[in-house]
Amino acid sequence: MLILGIETSCDETSASIVENGGKILSNIITSQDEIHAPYGGIVPELASRKQLESIGWVAREALNKAGISLPKIDAIAVTYGPGLAGSLLIGVEFAKSLAYSLSVPFIGINHIEAHLYANFLETSEIQFPYIGLIISGGHTSLFYVEDFLKYSFLGQTRDDACGEAFDKGAQILKLGYPGGPIIDKISKTGNPAAIKFPRAKLENPFDFSFSGLKTSLLRYVEKQGKITKKELPDIAASFQEAIVDALIKKTILAAEHKKVDTIVIGGGVAANSRIRIKIYKEADRKNLKVFFPKHFKLCTDNAAMVAGLGYWMLKKGKTSSLNLDIQPNVF
Ligand code: KG4
Ligand code: ZN
Repeated sequence: MLILGIETSCDETSASIVENGGKILSNIITSQDEIHAPYGGIVPELASRKQLESIGWVAREALNKAGISLPKIDAIAVTYGPGLAGSLLIGVEFAKSLAYSLSVPFIGINHIEAHLYANFLETSEIQFPYIGLIISGGHTSLFYVEDFLKYSFLGQTRDDACGEAFDKGAQILKLGYPGGPIIDKISKTGNPAAIKFPRAKLENPFDFSFSGLKTSLLRYVEKQGKITKKELPDIAASFQEAIVDALIKKTILAAEHKKVDTIVIGGGVAANSRIRIKIYKEADRKNLKVFFPKHFKLCTDNAAMVAGLGYWMLKKGKTSSLNLDIQPNVF
């Protein structure tokens, strides 16, 4: 069965063909980093305008790369939320028109559930229940997951998402956008214990907070005055360490609290090299299994995860009506 997935929840425009929920035939992703870089973050209006321009050829490219003609598609799956309203509308309207004209099922997909599904595109070893950690530019959330669509919330960020913290941190250090991959790279030559940035303490042990950390970095930079090239890796590595420590500590605590032995991580920040190294080590000590998408393309926003989950939903009869509305704040 061939599913065409469409993803436009943030600044990426992506289309993918996935066969039987696991075989990725194509996964075309166009990013807009250079458009938003001058602003140090995403400008929603610019994002949706660019998506309106590119959605048609991105979908065509996904079909061409997969060697599949449009009439062969069995269903269309699309992200309906959470995300930026204007961006979601572009993908959802495009997918609806296509599903209507082809007379095939239309499936609305939750972006967060799709990020967790990204792991299932690469392995069949994941067993429920597990602790799901979603770390991206818009979310930092912990879930207890019993099945693909059956899960409960354990905690989330009270302010900035961890990806947002990386992006704002990079802006403070004048490193460019998106900040996550840049800080990740610079930190490789730095000492993560050089500066003791704060770790937030919250009432719910599974909640996160990164705005204090951001302020603390800003104060540090203001106090130091000019940051030299030599100091930068230590500052970046120490800042990254504070984010990574919080993510790992709370996720492992959640696994112990819920007595599960599996952790599944998704979202753009899952591409971070430091969190991968540290959590594998910690999980090994505690006999926990940890899954990340191995391909970075499946960590950040992509339509393969949407098409993959779409297949599973279609099999369960969970299709959507063409009246489906976007839900920018579904979580
Ligand atoms: O999941 P995603 O592509 O989009 C959202 O749904 O938000 O995540 C994008 C976020 C950005 O904040 C970016 O800085 C961050 O993921 N990111 C990283 C890395 N690669 C991307 N953060 C830390 N380390 C990385 N290697
Ligand atoms: Zn995402």
